[in-house]
Amino acid sequence: MAGVRDPRDLPLSEGDVNISPARAEWRAGLSDRARAALDEDERYFLRQSLSTPCLTEIVSAEGAWLTDVDGRRILDFHGNSVHQLGHGHPRVVEAIRREMATLPFCTRRFANPTATALARRLVETAPAGLDKVLLAPSGSAAVGMALKLARYATGRHKTLSFWDSFHGANLDAIGVGGEAMFRRGLGPMAPGAEHLPPLDLARRFFGDDRPFDRLADFIDYALDVQGDVAALIAEPLRWTTVAAPPPDFWPRVSQSCARRGTLLIFDEIPSCLARSGAMYACQRLGATPDILVIGKGLGGGIMPLAAILVRAELDCAPQAALGHYTHEKSPVASAAALATIAVIDDENLIARARTLEAHGLARLVAMQAKHMRIAEVRAFGAYFGVEIGGEDASEFADRLMYACLAKGLSFKLGGGKVVTLCPPLTIGFDDFDLALDRLEAALVGLGG
Ligand SMILES: Cc1ncc(COP(=O)(O)O)c(C=O)c1O
Repeated sequence: MAGVRDPRDLPLSEGDVNISPARAEWRAGLSDRARAALDEDERYFLRQSLSTPCLTEIVSAEGAWLTDVDGRRILDFHGNSVHQLGHGHPRVVEAIRREMATLPFCTRRFANPTATALARRLVETAPAGLDKVLLAPSGSAAVGMALKLARYATGRHKTLSFWDSFHGANLDAIGVGGEAMFRRGLGPMAPGAEHLPPLDLARRFFGDDRPFDRLADFIDYALDVQGDVAALIAEPLRWTTVAAPPPDFWPRVSQSCARRGTLLIFDEIPSCLARSGAMYACQRLGATPDILVIGKGLGGGIMPLAAILVRAELDCAPQAALGHYTHEKSPVASAAALATIAVIDDENLIARARTLEAHGLARLVAMQAKHMRIAEVRAFGAYFGVEIGGEDASEFADRLMYACLAKGLSFKLGGGKVVTLCPPLTIGFDDFDLALDRLEAALVGLGG
């Protein structure tokens, strides 16, 4: 059709290269039944990067496990970062069921007790000073609300954010985001959205001598030289490559922002709610933002739900439509979130994330000592990065991903060459070790 671009003209994703030769091989090895399911998927859904072609058809999910159409059992260390509690936690399912039977929907014009209770609970769990809340039906929508609020509160429109960062796929979110795959080919982005060198490439641009100090200096300068930046928005750690800055970085940047009247927005959509070994990752990184954006696991891994948690002084735009989403105060999603927070407390999942961190990191360090293909291992709470080295790192990492999938382990590749391992915080040590055994066996199988 005239005017429709050939998909091969579009940039490849920085994540799983889902049109790679390894993907074609994987597909060829699927059963007739699985292939037919994928054909049917592609027949009706618009094709898009990172989604098409799909890997297999999943028919059920429970705890840390997925089952596909051929009965293959897969440990889910991907989960799109929604499954702090594992899939289908019984308390979340029960809370959803109960709310559906009582108050399945409520418009924003009415208060509803479940959404109000959730807002109260979020304020109680938030870093001190973040006293007001808005809920949203997706992380990208919540990022949009945060950006709008920053404009209203400061009377400015410019933003600073990092190249290579991700803040969601909506048009406003990709304007502040920095991943080429989400931006290229789309024309003008939001005006005034200026970008900083990537957080996880500080060394490349600032050298080995205190690179994060130099990056912080650069940010201070960029804020100062303009003087009219509404907000600096960032993932406190680069999620897709598991790369956190040193502990003195964010406190310095936060002070620079405060001096220039620039709001600091942290996007903790994937890192919130115990995943990091703290309720919020920023609590381990020594800085409280003016606006904290959370999502993903907030809905218990079942309901789509996100939120912004905000300093009370920023409650300054009663005349404005900050969110205005149809499902903004969903009682059912709120019930799921309340149950999620209760499970985090009752099952001590913050401490559990730290235990998994120590155990997993020790095992990965031992693995690195044995396997030359592993260039670096990192952990931040129960979230791990295994960086593959070598000139063909991305190609090897791609083959490793399929080899692991064949053995029953699913994970996401970040930055093309970082194996990211995101287990449920509720996982048993036997399953956790089994996943790492499968990763190691796949490495051995590939001669790495
Ligand atoms: C850091 C970050 N921000 C924003 C988003 C967007 O969230 P959603 O997919 O719920 O719109 C994501 C999702 O992957 C994310 O990882």
